[in-house]
Amino acid sequence: MCGIVGILGNHEAAPILVDALKRLEYRGYDSAGIATVDAGKLGRRRAVGKLVNLSDLLVHNPIAGKAGIGHTRWATHGVPNIVNSHPHRAKDVAVVHNGIIENFKELRDELSQNGVVFETDTDTETVVQLCMSYLKDGLSPKYAAAATIDRLEGAYALCFLFEGEDDLLIAARKGSPLAIGHGDGEMFVGSDALALAPMTDKVTYLDEGDWAIVTRTSLEIRDASGTLANREMRTIKVDLGTSDKGGYKHYMMKEIAEQPTVLAEAITHYTDPKTGGISVPGLDIDFANVDKITMVACGTAYLACSVAKYWFEQVARIPCEVDVASEFRYREPPMSDKSVAMFVSQSGETADTLAALRYCSDKVSKTVAVVNVAESSISRESDISLPIHAGVEIGVASTKAFTCQLIALVALVISAARARGELDAKSEQVLRTELTSLPGIINQSLAQQSEIDEVTIELSKASDALFLGRGAMYPLALEGALKLKEISYIHAEGYASGELKHGPIALVDEHMPVIVLAPKDDLFDKTVSNMQEVMARGGKVLLVTDPKGAETARDGVWKTIIMPPVHNMLAPILYAIPAQLIAYYTAVRKGTDVDQPRNLAKSVTVE
Ligand code: AGP
Repeated sequence: MCGIVGILGNHEAAPILVDALKRLEYRGYDSAGIATVDAGKLGRRRAVGKLVNLSDLLVHNPIAGKAGIGHTRWATHGVPNIVNSHPHRAKDVAVVHNGIIENFKELRDELSQNGVVFETDTDTETVVQLCMSYLKDGLSPKYAAAATIDRLEGAYALCFLFEGEDDLLIAARKGSPLAIGHGDGEMFVGSDALALAPMTDKVTYLDEGDWAIVTRTSLEIRDASGTLANREMRTIKVDLGTSDKGGYKHYMMKEIAEQPTVLAEAITHYTDPKTGGISVPGLDIDFANVDKITMVACGTAYLACSVAKYWFEQVARIPCEVDVASEFRYREPPMSDKSVAMFVSQSGETADTLAALRYCSDKVSKTVAVVNVAESSISRESDISLPIHAGVEIGVASTKAFTCQLIALVALVISAARARGELDAKSEQVLRTELTSLPGIINQSLAQQSEIDEVTIELSKASDALFLGRGAMYPLALEGALKLKEISYIHAEGYASGELKHGPIALVDEHMPVIVLAPKDDLFDKTVSNMQEVMARGGKVLLVTDPKGAETARDGVWKTIIMPPVHNMLAPILYAIPAQLIAYYTAVRKGTDVDQPRNLAKSVTVE
């Protein structure tokens, strides 16, 4: 998604803007630009492609000024070219925008009828032309921006900069997050705290519908009705150390390797320091009287929910429904006021998941967020917010966030099972012990990188791949397929092993790698039968299993990756590691942009 920064500083803005945009690169983008005001003159520089192109441009064609705005664009309307890059400008005003203006055509027609000639195909240009029309009508910048914002429908985070105004930014937020940073005689605007981190840790998040008048010495926030609003200034802890590659070739590999550490932190957070038992701080839910759990998310977060469905139903004996947010929000299902709705999101800003939360918030007994960004919209709008402690995740492909989400969900399941009398003390003790040893087991599995890398020599030549799993390993098969397709661009599908005979087996031939994720559990033998069916048709099976599974079923398979033994319930967390590594090494062999795969964004803040 697009990234926004704004600065009213005491130093030249251009280098600081570009540096802040670098910390927003992880969101995915295809062009970038900045605008500044220098001695009242508005200027602009934009470049297509990576930020280095903008930096090069600024070396040869610098731009001065201590007030400025910047933007990384992930194209929604209009191809990624210079003309469509932000900031957009209409003579005396420049704007950067994250989101989609849904009524831009209507506004564009109105402005065109008034003689405005548009230069671009973007929805954002409508914003800046509308604001300019109000300036021409004699409104001051503040009121011209306010009148413009009033006319907009859809989702937006906006920052306006004006000719002649080197101590004024107007910021607005509806649907896309936006934060105001407080400096020492300076002020900042940013899409998230990471962008602002090197400048300040004092941040005020705008609420839905807020807009703000920012000067170096003042901040006036008004809510959607135009009433003065008081928003809390928070001190944000962003560990900047985690926002570099730490010697790894890609952020994704660094984040895969961080999993033993961050999982241990997540497990510690969900362990009562006094009793050593699993506990979820602030979980005021009477699970004994909960009649259903509904879980809603997108992408990998949705697959974490899909794994947890097996746990809630098998361990806590609570009916559990899981849906992708983009379907759920329009399905508008009836909700029980005795049910709990859970929203899992690494960024905490995914538009569809946020919309699903808003659909549920007045219909269920409690809403629970499981997020990696504590100050995010989904976190702030839920009754209960559970952190996953994954640390900053830069790689677009979600890895450590997925496994940390599962840790938080395990803690929720155990809490629910205990409350419903479904988990005796002995079984809980076993689970706790196994959970405590999981980071070490994951560390062991990371030692298999070269073995997995070798497998990808063949895999990287495939044009299609199948992932199979049963039970809670079925969502993991889906996750393995998602990882592979989103970073290597190989078409991959995940299937329930038992579904193979109902169609997908028609795809199987000697060119189709079939990756089977199967610890030796109660369903293993059935999965072996499916493997035999694949091999009988010349299919190449890559079996990911444990020592007992390998002993039983490795004959005839193409390759076997042997995982350390682990408690059945925790297998989906452990087996995520080989799934991530298979995707990673395949993508590296294919030379794709592992951290910022084509067409993808880290946080999808528009629907
Ligand atoms: C996962 O690798 C993808 N990057 C994507 O599916 C992601 O999980 C999805 O967009 C949800 O993002 P969120 O967790 O921030 O809500």
